[in-house]
Amino acid sequence: MIQCWRLDDRRQTLVLGSHRKHLAEVIYWGPRLPDDEDLDTLFAVHAIDVTGGMLDLNPELSVSPEATRTFPGQPGLIVRASDGTQLLTKFCLVQAQEEPGRLNLFYTDENNGLTYSARFAINSRTHVIEAQAALESDEPIHLHWMSAPVMPAPQLSDEMIDVSGRWCGEFQLNRTVWSPGVRFRENRTGRTGHEHFPGLIVPCRGATNTQGQAYAFHYGWSGGHKMIAEELPDGRRQIQFGHAEHMEATPKKQFETAPLYITFSDDGLNGCAVAFQRHLRDEIVQMPQPDRERPVHYNCWEAVYFNHDLPVLKDIASRAADLGVERFVLDDGWFNRRDNDTRALSDWEVDPRKYPDGLDPLIDHVHSLGMTFGIWFEPEMINPDSEIYRAHPDWALGAEDQILGRNQKALNMALPDVRDFLFERIATVLRKHAIEYIKWDHNRVLPMPDADQTRGSYALLDRLRAEFPHVEIESCASGGGRIDFGILERTQRIWLSDSTDALERLKMQHNAALFLPATVTGCHVGSRKCHTSGRVLDMSFRAWVAAQRHMGIEMDPRELTDEEAETLRQVVSWWKQNRGWMMNADILRLESPDPAVIAEQQLSADHARFVVFAGKAATSSQIAPRPLRLTRLDPHARYRINLINRDRAVGLSRGTQTLKTESVDLSGSYLMNHGLTLPWSFPESMWVIEGRRQ
Ligand code: DGJ
Repeated sequence: MIQCWRLDDRRQTLVLGSHRKHLAEVIYWGPRLPDDEDLDTLFAVHAIDVTGGMLDLNPELSVSPEATRTFPGQPGLIVRASDGTQLLTKFCLVQAQEEPGRLNLFYTDENNGLTYSARFAINSRTHVIEAQAALESDEPIHLHWMSAPVMPAPQLSDEMIDVSGRWCGEFQLNRTVWSPGVRFRENRTGRTGHEHFPGLIVPCRGATNTQGQAYAFHYGWSGGHKMIAEELPDGRRQIQFGHAEHMEATPKKQFETAPLYITFSDDGLNGCAVAFQRHLRDEIVQMPQPDRERPVHYNCWEAVYFNHDLPVLKDIASRAADLGVERFVLDDGWFNRRDNDTRALSDWEVDPRKYPDGLDPLIDHVHSLGMTFGIWFEPEMINPDSEIYRAHPDWALGAEDQILGRNQKALNMALPDVRDFLFERIATVLRKHAIEYIKWDHNRVLPMPDADQTRGSYALLDRLRAEFPHVEIESCASGGGRIDFGILERTQRIWLSDSTDALERLKMQHNAALFLPATVTGCHVGSRKCHTSGRVLDMSFRAWVAAQRHMGIEMDPRELTDEEAETLRQVVSWWKQNRGWMMNADILRLESPDPAVIAEQQLSADHARFVVFAGKAATSSQIAPRPLRLTRLDPHARYRINLINRDRAVGLSRGTQTLKTESVDLSGSYLMNHGLTLPWSFPESMWVIEGRRQ
């Protein structure tokens, strides 16, 4: 007997089918199918042929391909009994629960005492499908590997794009050509990692940012993931995502994958990007005060590092407020003898040498300037040179003689005592002071991947959020080492990178927008000479790059010249005027004909206005700028186009371009099919163009 199920939104259809109660397989995923499509017929025609050298029937590429069906590729589940014997599963459908937008399939394997479920939920507003798998066992078993429901990858695709990176160089895109065999990525660092953002995009042939078909995947888990993108010998392709292998240290009776977020787009990579941006912003992230505008942020790390001196910090706070800052964050260095990064992590008590009257004098000063106050913690870490380590060396995770990372070990977050201790210390600081923001850092990889560690961190965050719902939390891990939808269920901002080099940021932000909306993506104006790259950049460029996302400042304001301060003030003021719509806008990556230009268009939710940021990342090979095509406008509407920073045109831009002197009205059709011809500019500069529908 054939059974089929479908999930639809306006732009996509997902069809699963099975016969004889076998595990279902995705038999169609792509553009919306007609309502009256006969699914049984789809199932019948879906099968690929058999020829010499093949089995007599092709094993299903099911939601969890099974070795017992002689599946010729990587299985979706690998489990062992508690004595180590491999359990070869053979699941049989027991129930299919269908309700609008949801499908839950339940299977049993009676011989092995197992129950498996695959759950799908489609969000018709964001176009993201959440897919999750769970396993239950009568007896405790070892889980080696479990994939979230396995998806097919398109055949008309020549390559896949996944994401790697490094400290100060997050969100680098890798393109890998499809070929028989496996593209295998596994992150065994125990945190999401700079190196392994858990995302994948599979564009169909010819897809660009703005057109064509693409499929995208994101695994919402902070403990390290495994991805398999496999082309089978018969040509079929499968995508698997799950926790890194062997993350469950002990035999258990219940297991669950994290949600796998997937989406299909028929309008380019931007279709996937916008789906993820909206889904994260509107369905996952819970802002403490959703109606509050995102405050302009200041972080003192690169201004003072560990040298906390109250008069200096007060002076910095006053200068930050004068620039338009609305939230002041005190970074590392405020607690027990923390004068450098060799000691004191986990001793979360205010350092009386630096703050003899506690934090209140600083907090009161910050408040008197109209700003709110935030503070840095790195809860999951401990320095061997700390009071807590001396009292509880057994709280540290991993071997006694392990290699340290930034002179620190990770705490064992699976231990309730550790979580209670951290909760009490953090809660004490929060209860005693008017603090509305935590920068939550995580600067060391774990000695080994361990799902209990991640669950322990989540539990601590959940407990703190329940008790302090007004506190916003930023996820930082040496910059962008813990960015994923799992941590963002519990936090509201990410520190994309420790690099405040605007040129590096321009590139990173462009790629991160494939998954992340502006409202969670912190970007700060750094020092004139960047502390992590040594590059010297103009204030206008630094400020506009920060204005592309949740804007902040992270530098010593005492270094600012009057001119720099005025430029910064103006951009902060522009950002404040526009954040209301920009923080809810779609970020659209533009297709730039000039590889030196990295450009994006932020389009308001009502499509009535937009802003284009065209960053010049290098010197162009041709002499004059090439027109930049915009996207997603109404071809029949007219838009007033205003180059708002035209005063930045340099002397070498000698032409008489209209945009340099006035606004112009142009049709959406012209803007999308010819594009905007911008003035000549220096590298490391940014043009900012506003558009308003007339
Ligand atoms: C690493 C973070 O990424 C920095 O922004 C800063 O908070 C330091 N840790 C503090 O130690």
